[in-house]
Amino acid sequence: MGLDVVLLSRLQFALTIMFHYLFPPLTIGMGAVLVYLEAQFLRTREAIYETAARFWTSLFAVSFAVGVATGIVMEFQFGTNWAGYSRYVGDVFGSALAAEGIFAFFLESGFLAILVFGWDRVGPRFHFVATLLVALGSVFSAVWIIVANSWQQTPAGHAIVPVLRDGVPWLVDGRPMMRAEVVDFLAVLLNPSTVNRLVHTLIGAYALGSFFILSISAWYLLRGRHEDFARRSFTGALLFATLASIGLLVSGDFNGRMVAREQPAKLAAFEGHLRTGPADLSLFGWPDEEAGTVRFAPAIPGGLSFLVYRDFDAPVMGLDRFRREDRPPVLLSYASFHLMILLGFFFIALTLLASFFRLRGTLFRKRWLLAIFVFTVIGPFIANEVGWCAAEVGRQPWVVHPRVQRDASGAPMLDAEGFVLYVQEGLRTAQGVSENLKGSEVLASICGFGVIYLLLFAVWLVVLNHKIQAGPRPVAAGTRTTARGVREAAAGRTLHERSMTEAKGLPAGEPPAAAAAEEEEEEEEEEQEDRDEERRGAREEPR
Ligand code: HEM
Repeated sequence: MGLDVVLLSRLQFALTIMFHYLFPPLTIGMGAVLVYLEAQFLRTREAIYETAARFWTSLFAVSFAVGVATGIVMEFQFGTNWAGYSRYVGDVFGSALAAEGIFAFFLESGFLAILVFGWDRVGPRFHFVATLLVALGSVFSAVWIIVANSWQQTPAGHAIVPVLRDGVPWLVDGRPMMRAEVVDFLAVLLNPSTVNRLVHTLIGAYALGSFFILSISAWYLLRGRHEDFARRSFTGALLFATLASIGLLVSGDFNGRMVAREQPAKLAAFEGHLRTGPADLSLFGWPDEEAGTVRFAPAIPGGLSFLVYRDFDAPVMGLDRFRREDRPPVLLSYASFHLMILLGFFFIALTLLASFFRLRGTLFRKRWLLAIFVFTVIGPFIANEVGWCAAEVGRQPWVVHPRVQRDASGAPMLDAEGFVLYVQEGLRTAQGVSENLKGSEVLASICGFGVIYLLLFAVWLVVLNHKIQAGPRPVAAGTRTTARGVREAAAGRTLHERSMTEAKGLPAGEPPAAAAAEEEEEEEEEEQEDRDEERRGAREEPR
């Protein structure tokens, strides 16, 4: 039996994107915290804010680097494994990815060096602007990627046209090859799911960024290290995390209703809802497609009907309204969706409890709660991964989902056999894969990616651990409040470098400031000698 190229290519894409997606939400979330800390420093000039900003920047930079390295791989895969898909969506996807490069990536990479290396080289205001632009760049990046992905979920603003070769339609096995062409860029940009998904994804990123800071701060507090720094970081991040956790529930509810409208098969798979009618909301369970039920599931009767239509008895479309070949895989969609929601409720409970103790002033004495926070950082990493898993697996078997055909009242239309009608064919995932690819080639590249990503992950963990163990280095008060302070800090660092070099027994280089002063002195001496000589010459001439 030959290896299944489509399945392997999907596995490879899942592996690479899931690894990549560990990092962007972390840097988006931390970017916002860096902006907050530097703004606080500018406002109060308290050195502790700068100490904190410098420390979190060093962790941000490591994660950013791995995120960029793993992101580049994604774009190559569209060409190597998904040529059919690239041909079909190239016009739409290409413009969104180009916009990401121009508006987001250039902004991020242009100012990243100042953010990471510019602390003692530019003034605090300029540094703040660089941090703000890097943070904005990472958000813009998310905007364009989500525009492209949302167009695949709920396409709009395009026309399907034949691919031409030498001016005539290109036929493969007698069938014309088709592609999507942009006809209304604004409609592509604001397709029916973009805004909902962007908001939910960004809040998911802020949740991860704040739980990351909570985890490390809680660890310092348990160890009794850097306590002032850790308390302030924990308190600020707790506020962010509480708001983000509640925001995820609210934006998730909007998302759920959008999915019910635009992708009813996906919603039915999320809830394991197999027969059309009033639908329960289960907490967890095991969907059994053959039996048409969800086993072992404590459920709220009519809960899904209420969530979607605000009516416990309203019928919700089940998977029985879709042909078997048009249904998404139920078990994986159900499991990933429910894990995300359970984690979401856990975050809300945990952050509200911690906020309650913080307000009462007893939080930092509750070591058991701090210990929970140390480990909870794994939760938002998983929730972000399974959220995407639910959204993408629920879109199957389509890579570009077709739109549901509706009557004048907006209700979905059914064909003679009672199945939902689509306005136009989307693109099935199986049609998107590259024609000439071999299973063995994909298997080899999966193994290669597996090894490299494991190494990258290990390096990321080791570097992160090293930086966390070293902890924040306190910045002296008043060092960077003026341009003179910046110059002094720079000179101080150069002197420190020289003493280190001398301590290692290496030939000491001159610090630039001292070297320049010496040069100036030498020049002055030479000029003085010239002037003396001229005077002597002038006195001697008449004789
Ligand atoms: C608390 C309750 C939550 C609800 C009701 C909820 C709801 C949803 C829904 C309906 C989707 C599918 C949207 C689609 O297919 O287009 C989704 C996707 C997603 N969720 Fe959640 N979610 C919740 C919690 C969380 C949490 C805690 C995180 C992460 C920290 C998260 C991150 C994501 C991500 C990254 C996606 C994929 C992007 C998207 O499609 O919007 N969600 N969520």
